Amino acid sequence: MSQSRPTVLFVDDEINMLDMFKRMLGSEANDWDAHFCSSADEALGIALAGGVDTVVSDIRMPEKDGFDLLAAIRESGPSVRVPFIILTGGGDQALRCKALELGATDLLTKPIGRDDLLVRIRTALRMKFQADDQERTIHKLSSQVEHRTMELENARRETVWRLAKTCEFRDDETGNHIVRVACNSRFIARGLGMDEVFCDLIMQASALHDIGKIGIPDRVLLKPGPLDPEERTIVQSHTTMGYEILSGRPQAAGGLGMDPLGSLGSLETGRQFRILQLAATIAECHHERWDGLGYPNGLSGEAIPLAARIVAVADVYDALISERPYKRALSVDEAVEIIAGENGRQFEPAVVRVFLRGYREMNAETDEYIGSGSMETGFYDTLGSIS
Ligand SMILES: [Fe+2]
Repeated sequence: MSQSRPTVLFVDDEINMLDMFKRMLGSEANDWDAHFCSSADEALGIALAGGVDTVVSDIRMPEKDGFDLLAAIRESGPSVRVPFIILTGGGDQALRCKALELGATDLLTKPIGRDDLLVRIRTALRMKFQADDQERTIHKLSSQVEHRTMELENARRETVWRLAKTCEFRDDETGNHIVRVACNSRFIARGLGMDEVFCDLIMQASALHDIGKIGIPDRVLLKPGPLDPEERTIVQSHTTMGYEILSGRPQAAGGLGMDPLGSLGSLETGRQFRILQLAATIAECHHERWDGLGYPNGLSGEAIPLAARIVAVADVYDALISERPYKRALSVDEAVEIIAGENGRQFEPAVVRVFLRGYREMNAETDEYIGSGSMETGFYDTLGSIS
């Protein structure tokens, strides 16, 4: 299709009519790429190949008639909006109505005059090119909106990542703990059969699980020895502080200011807020225990949001195999034994089951990710391919 040389399709089973069209075109034939078809099937083949800008067709033809051709074109993808001019007899009022109902653009009554024919075709072509321009503009605007949306999404992901790292730098200079917790959480969520939207969100949101540590003094957070009861209480407050930072409001009395299911089912707001809401829930509840002996609210069982039940295992496992100021790094086998020993006590059995079944694969996936050195630039790029 080209605006400089539009394509016009003439369809009539009578060769005399096609010859008449050729004669009528006269010098217009130099400007238009005209095709002359003696059957609806032949015309349909050309139309479906694309590039036709206007069809001029008789109604009455053997086998497939003009209505069949019109209907087939209107149902097709590439040619669905091609202007279609129907040739009718003067007394065929019912046929004229039917043609318009089927989506004919214009009607030409026989006998056809040259000026009438040419002006109708020119009008139809103008309509076609205006529609094409409109479509190109819509496509261009859609692409721009898509591009801007992607930029905003990437900026949001990058902001979440850097916020998480800011806090993590205080007691883990590599910042790898949050990446491992994020990767582990996504792995476990997938193992539980959660959909990719949830898995993507929990990967991002879990990176912020310890954001509340930003409010814990160094003398407590970095203390190499055991904590006294008061210091322990201070450290535990990172859960409620994390909730308050991420939710933007004080923790509700009794805890769980939002999203008691932690499943996203109750989260109706936009994606950026869903991540912050889920992150707030995880920050608040990732130290709750399945048996109800955790903190800050002593929730138990399924009263603990699912995302927090997942992150609890992902977080503790990585903490066990990591060196901290107050402890050596355990081996994977030692850590797995501890997680298994807490099945049904600290951790939900279903989550532990997924972990025990897949921790080797989980480790390999996470190590590969960190080993690739793509955290800075690739952490959220990878997420971007999911959402
Ligand atoms: Fe924590």
